[in-house]
Amino acid sequence: MRPEVQARVLERLVAAIDQPRAEVAPRSTRLSVSRYLDEGELAREREVLFARRPIVVAHASELAEVGAFRTDMLGDVPLLITRAQDGVHVFVNACRHRGARLVDAPAGCSKLLTCPYHAWTYRPDGRLFRVPGEDTFDALDHAALGLRELPSEVRHGLVWAQLDGQLDVASFLGPVLDDDLEAFDLAGHVALGRTDRVVSANWKLVMDAFAEGYHLSSLHSKSLARFFLEVSVLDDCAPHVRQVGARKTLLEVKGDASRADLRRDTTVFYDVFPNTVLVFHPDWLSALTVFPLDVDHVRVVHRMLAPDGPRDEDASQRLARSFAHIDEQVFLKEDLAIAESIQSTLASGANEHVLLGGLEEGMRLFHAARDAALEAALEAARQE
Ligand code: FES
Ligand SMILES: [Fe+2]
Repeated sequence: MRPEVQARVLERLVAAIDQPRAEVAPRSTRLSVSRYLDEGELAREREVLFARRPIVVAHASELAEVGAFRTDMLGDVPLLITRAQDGVHVFVNACRHRGARLVDAPAGCSKLLTCPYHAWTYRPDGRLFRVPGEDTFDALDHAALGLRELPSEVRHGLVWAQLDGQLDVASFLGPVLDDDLEAFDLAGHVALGRTDRVVSANWKLVMDAFAEGYHLSSLHSKSLARFFLEVSVLDDCAPHVRQVGARKTLLEVKGDASRADLRRDTTVFYDVFPNTVLVFHPDWLSALTVFPLDVDHVRVVHRMLAPDGPRDEDASQRLARSFAHIDEQVFLKEDLAIAESIQSTLASGANEHVLLGGLEEGMRLFHAARDAALEAALEAARQE
């Protein structure tokens, strides 16, 4: 976040210490529970939100050397993400001979990638390098038999890929997020920790868990609550949302926002539509990306990104402990557990709707952005 933007946010937060409701409009919004249960809704979300928007599939530091690769899934598409001499590529992880998965390992490093079936071999930039028994085929057009590549871009250190349509991460992020993330220098960070787990909940329940701070003093009463004031400010950067919560240290500036420090005295959250959440802790940040598996299961990938550079043993251990605490206690046992808890009641008939108040504005905006995107896609299909 640029200094002048930080200054304005910090002024609003300091003002909110005295008047915590000044920026909170009372309202009640009802969302039908069917949006978390319906297979048809999920199919539309996959097609519109997950296929036609840039999705975070890696951090560039996870592919540090030429030849480094990772495999992953984006929807039903197996991915092979590589670093070649000319940069990062995202391919469909399918051999062009008869479609075996070219690479099975989750990650590794190799100058050549050889299919396990008949040993067709590719370079990290996707070019077909060698075909055993090539003389037994009619002339093979090597140029046409390179790995199938998806549009991808490295921006703010994150590797974004898109299954369908034109990829333009900067315009998708919009000026607020693009500027903020540039100033945080995510490209100068490294991925030091990572968990990858399946949670028994609709993917939107996990996004909901990180979209509002109303639950901070209750759900997180024994973990995070002691560090935070119940004060936050929100900016609608549709389809994304920025929220900044005040840490208790903000009281020490005694009303003078110019003495506040964004990383020390606040936690900045971004909901990067549709499926990524960035949470800026004082010394590192959480990058969470969620991928629906079915209507009530979601894969949650949590990366720890920390500033690159030399770090002594003590500092490394402190970071590792901090990641373990946030990941296992706060996220897994509190936020993700409550998402599973909600999923378990949705089909019971107890509620036809979930109800959102003014302190759940971030969640309301996320669902409004989701509804608007699905509606716009329907409208575009009607026009065709
Ligand atoms: S399927 Fe890969 S070499 Fe045959
Ligand atoms: Fe939470």
